[in-house]
Amino acid sequence: MIRVAIDGPAGVGKSSTSKALATYFGFAYLDTGAMYRAATWWCLNQGIDLDAEQPDADRIVDTVGRFFTEDHFDISVDPEHPDVTSDGESIGEAIRSREVSSHVSVVSSIMPVRNLLIAAQRAYIAREADGNSFSRGAGIVAEGRDTTTVVEPDAEVRILLTAREDVRQARRTGQSNTSQVGADNVAARDKADSKVTSFMSAAEGVTTVDNSDMDFSETLDVLIRMVEDAM
Ligand code: C5P
Repeated sequence: MIRVAIDGPAGVGKSSTSKALATYFGFAYLDTGAMYRAATWWCLNQGIDLDAEQPDADRIVDTVGRFFTEDHFDISVDPEHPDVTSDGESIGEAIRSREVSSHVSVVSSIMPVRNLLIAAQRAYIAREADGNSFSRGAGIVAEGRDTTTVVEPDAEVRILLTAREDVRQARRTGQSNTSQVGADNVAARDKADSKVTSFMSAAEGVTTVDNSDMDFSETLDVLIRMVEDAM
């Protein structure tokens, strides 16, 4: 059983690399950022003012709690068909909107929200690491901001995937099909996120992979070798 935890800033290519890595080994894939995005989407849908100078943290915690405990939320951990649903409807695209990207740090910086999501993430990892319906080998790749340090500090493989800021912003802009996603300001989001999670430098025991000068397949090769070494 192999748990792979990958953290890093926005726009580094974490999601695409993590999905490809999980697919390669037949592992499950958990996008923890998608869970924070879904929580934010739900809060906006419930009419919570996330632009307020002092957002109503109690209401946010209560609202997010209901979202997860009352079964409104589901996430597919199949790396070839990743999706997030709310009451059975796909919200995979909606959670990538500029509206969600620009408010997600407000929600993810509230500690009781984090504690709730971290517990849910650990449960997914525990369940999937021992085998999943599509696996050839038992394992999971979890990616986010605190998977190597908080969610799964005992993971067999812990990676900090990083790249220079100009490279990351360019990738984000180039990656987007819509001006909405392109307008996602990764520097501002990283700055806000850095106040609550530590992903700009590697914690002890975490291997840094700087892919500023690597293309997608070179990055994937490096990660594949790291997982093979841990097997
Ligand atoms: O990975 P992604 O860019 O989709 O993450 C969206 C947001 O979710 C981040 O900007 C951050 O606010 C939050 N997040 C987090 N902890 C994680 C993963 C994501 O706080 N483990």
